[in-house]
Amino acid sequence: MSKLLVVEASPRGPYSVSRQLAKRFADEWRDSHGGDVLVRDLATSHVPNISLPWIGGAFTPTEQHSPEMGEAIKISDDFIAELLAADEIVIGTPMYNFSIPALLKSWIDHVVRFGVTFSASYEGLVKGKKATVIIASGGNFAPGTPYEGLNVASGYLKQILGFIGITDVTVILAGGTLAIDHGQTTMEDFVAQQAGALHAAA
Ligand SMILES: Cc1cc2nc3c(=O)[nH]c(=O)nc-3n(C[C@H](O)[C@H](O)[C@H](O)COP(=O)(O)O)c2cc1C
Repeated sequence: MSKLLVVEASPRGPYSVSRQLAKRFADEWRDSHGGDVLVRDLATSHVPNISLPWIGGAFTPTEQHSPEMGEAIKISDDFIAELLAADEIVIGTPMYNFSIPALLKSWIDHVVRFGVTFSASYEGLVKGKKATVIIASGGNFAPGTPYEGLNVASGYLKQILGFIGITDVTVILAGGTLAIDHGQTTMEDFVAQQAGALHAAA
């Protein structure tokens, strides 16, 4: 049975647009694939930043791990296991300061690991998976719009996923969420506007 991993990065719970869009994607995906969906909610997971014991754990054979190294590297092992078990992945994230939230960057720091998800020759070891990245932003950064060049989030996510071997990446730029905050549109209408892109990706 197919498995979808949903990675959520917004702290805004029910007000989060990226969460609503990722949920819609997961519903569509479940309808068309009939598989299992695992949600990794970074906002409610305790995701520590990389530490000295983590680095020791990542670059020392498991049998030589100190208790501190073993403890620090466990979350990385868990995140990588979730990623490897999935056939497909969807990342729902806000744009923060034209990039991604620190929480999502922290997840990336845990899953991009030498000898586990990429090799010494920079070969990605996470093969045969498809990813969809949904980026909600207050402003609009669609291709051809004046501020397109400020968006470093989509390029970075495509690059880092490609680096670990996930090269089939679809990016959905859900720009203009400020209109919801200003009462100019509703969450339902905004999500409906993205329905075609979500359906096509799922
Ligand atoms: C700390 C912070 C930084 C943000 N930076 C940007 C930005 O650089 N560009 C932008 O268009 N919107 C920015 N926003 C607005 C969010 O991208 C927007 O509210 C989006 O809908 C958040 O995703 P969410 O609804 O899933 O939480 C920022 C919001 C916050 C809280």
